[in-house]
Amino acid sequence: MWRSLRGALRCLGVKVCRRSVLLVVLLWLASWLFLNGLVFVHRNMFSDFCTDDKSKEILQRVCDEYQQGVLTGDLCEDLCVAGRVEYKRCLYYENGKKVMAASWRGVPVVLKSKLENFSSYEALALLEYQDAAGGAGGEEELSPLDVVFYATLEIKNSLGLETGTNLTLPRLWGQKLKENERTYSRAELASLWALLQQEEYTFLRVLQDLTHHVAKILGSCGHFYAVEYLAAGHAWDQHIFSLEELTLSPSPSPWSGQEKMITAKDMVPRVALSFLEMVEHFENDFSHRLHLCDIKPENFAIRKDLTVVAIDVDMAFFEPKMRDILEQNCTNDNDCNFFDCISNCDTTKNRCGPKRRNSNLQVICEKIFRPWFSPTLLGAKAGLPLQVELQRAVQECAEIDGGEDARRTRAVREQLQDLLVELIREDTGNQGEGQEHKMRRVHTALNF
Ligand SMILES: Nc1ncnc2c1ncn2[C@@H]1O[C@H](COP(=O)(O)OP(=O)(O)OP(=O)(O)O)[C@@H](O)[C@H]1O
Ligand SMILES: *[C@@H]1O[C@H](CO)[C@@H](O)[C@H](O)[C@H]1NC(C)=O
Ligand SMILES: *[C@@H]1O[C@H](CO)[C@@H](O)[C@H](O)[C@H]1NC(C)=O
Ligand SMILES: *[C@@H]1O[C@H](CO)[C@@H](O)[C@H](O)[C@H]1NC(C)=O
Repeated sequence: MWRSLRGALRCLGVKVCRRSVLLVVLLWLASWLFLNGLVFVHRNMFSDFCTDDKSKEILQRVCDEYQQGVLTGDLCEDLCVAGRVEYKRCLYYENGKKVMAASWRGVPVVLKSKLENFSSYEALALLEYQDAAGGAGGEEELSPLDVVFYATLEIKNSLGLETGTNLTLPRLWGQKLKENERTYSRAELASLWALLQQEEYTFLRVLQDLTHHVAKILGSCGHFYAVEYLAAGHAWDQHIFSLEELTLSPSPSPWSGQEKMITAKDMVPRVALSFLEMVEHFENDFSHRLHLCDIKPENFAIRKDLTVVAIDVDMAFFEPKMRDILEQNCTNDNDCNFFDCISNCDTTKNRCGPKRRNSNLQVICEKIFRPWFSPTLLGAKAGLPLQVELQRAVQECAEIDGGEDARRTRAVREQLQDLLVELIREDTGNQGEGQEHKMRRVHTALNF
């Protein structure tokens, strides 16, 4: 279509061609309208009840309960009293899960809760027990140590970690609790409990201080918690994350006003490098290896500094839970596929092996890097020596088999890394003088 447009433009001015120009323009307009319609329908179908009125109603209920002393959190005062949380739009409602965009003291955030109502979460049994046992005089408050103990149990349960292992979170919380040596109010405990029942919150909370490849939790009020706003990948645009989402916004807001620092083309190798860093991190830096079992662009997002963040953590499992999930009855290898996490069927026992056969790296190479660095998407650049080498490295990485030794996997990853660094250096070298300043800023952001 573009070629015909170009052809039509070339004969612009010649009378005969006028009609074809008009035709092409009309055609272009029609397809544009069609695509927009499609996106509109898609949005409305999948966000069923996602209306601004409903979202505001939900937040109002949170505030009513805050005022009644039922729930609390560090976000409540700003949300309910000071008016420093500005609702923007809702992002997603499904199966009760509420996700909305807002701006908190000028910072774009996403408010999330797995369930709409605070009362839908299971109450802390301990509080009920107190009510039953204490009667009128039972306002005795829980000791911080009890809270830590129960929170730890809940977290280990939720993440599938055996009770023997050390976890960072309880230690941190424990320290905090000891520092202020104070007891917790009912509202605080009930809110904490509602949050801990959301696997995503628990997961993010545990990894908060350990990695920058998960979304930062910025605050909470009752069962709603705020995470940093990120630019998510799109299913329909495999090629790239749109940084514009972070910098440009339909309405004038704190989102906008940022200069666009990096063009799409320059972004790819930098984001890819961050993916590699994340893989290495998840593999080695926690007490258990972390497996990502649903790898696709929509499940990752980037920050302005181009660090990659895993946003859909429903399908992220630590090694012990991964083993539980994989160990199933089977008759052949196909029965041992759990989304992107696969193992082998032991046909003598008819049981899947508990050890994952593929790896985060292999799947990311196959499902994310391969499309990015494919000749079709690279266009004219595909023939350049560095690009060819990169394509080969990505292909090799996508074909890594879990049976192979760890040393080869490391070699593959290091080669990829080297090629990406070189690609970035080459791109930077080719930039005009005016761009130099921009590029340097990116470099410092990534700490090369
Ligand atoms: N931190 C964020 N910044 C910007 N958008 C976000 C953020 N977190 C989530 N979103 C958007 O909200 C939508 C739903 O969020 P989320 O992934 O938490 O829901 P989910 O129920 O886990 O989704 P899925 O159905 O894919 O499992 C996502 O499509 C994503 O685009
Ligand atoms: C949440 O609470 C409101 C008011 O109490 C109620 O109308 C609504 O049905 C509840 N929603 C769910 C999902 O329970
Ligand atoms: C847990 O941590 C304690 C103290 O930090 C340490 O002594 C112990 O060995 C750790 N246990 C395990 C299983 O790592
Ligand atoms: C798996 O197989 C074992 C023995 O072959 C059997 O006892 C068990 O019920 C099976 N489990 C399921 C979930 O089918």
